[in-house]
Amino acid sequence: MSKEYAIGDVIISRSEIEKRAEEIGRRISEDFAGEEVTLIGILRGAVMWMSQILKSVDLDARVDFMAVSSYGAATKSSGIVKINKDLDDSIVGKNAIIVEDIVDSGVTLNYLKEYLLGMNPKSLRICSLLDKPSGRKIPMDLDYVGFEVGDVFIVGYGLDVNQRFRNLPYITSVTEK
Ligand code: IMP
Ligand code: MG
Repeated sequence: MSKEYAIGDVIISRSEIEKRAEEIGRRISEDFAGEEVTLIGILRGAVMWMSQILKSVDLDARVDFMAVSSYGAATKSSGIVKINKDLDDSIVGKNAIIVEDIVDSGVTLNYLKEYLLGMNPKSLRICSLLDKPSGRKIPMDLDYVGFEVGDVFIVGYGLDVNQRFRNLPYITSVTEK
């Protein structure tokens, strides 16, 4: 039987997210003015945020995707991350921006950052819709952050629990009934 979930109140509304995405898209455009950038969306959670950011990026922009999974909760801090889908195009000598949904422990991003830096990009920055600093196990500097959230489990705007609620157009919390 599938689990039942209780969705909380709206924490961040669709219009707040869209406004923030526009601000960040404009900042990226200023920071990389005259240059080419590749936005690397991390599947599947970052899809909605990535598409929103892209609309405000006024540059020679490229899009690529990676899919990763981190091993179960018990080994999360071990930093073992599996790549399920790699980049399609090379980022050697290119400006790359990782676009994530949420940074919690930092384990996933730490792994991705090291992996992508190994490809010798010209630059590598990180853009995340959400930052959950209370969960951090590995210190992580984020270049572009949508919003900070507290110590709650988040769904919506791409984020899921057991693959559900990714389609909610706002950020909310979820608990198991
Ligand atoms: P980290 O490696 O602990 O930083 O976790 C990063 C990944 O875990 C994110 O990319 C999400 O897929 C997932 N995650 C962490 N916190 C949440 C949450 O509150 N809601 C949904 N997914 C989460
Ligand atoms: Mg994710």
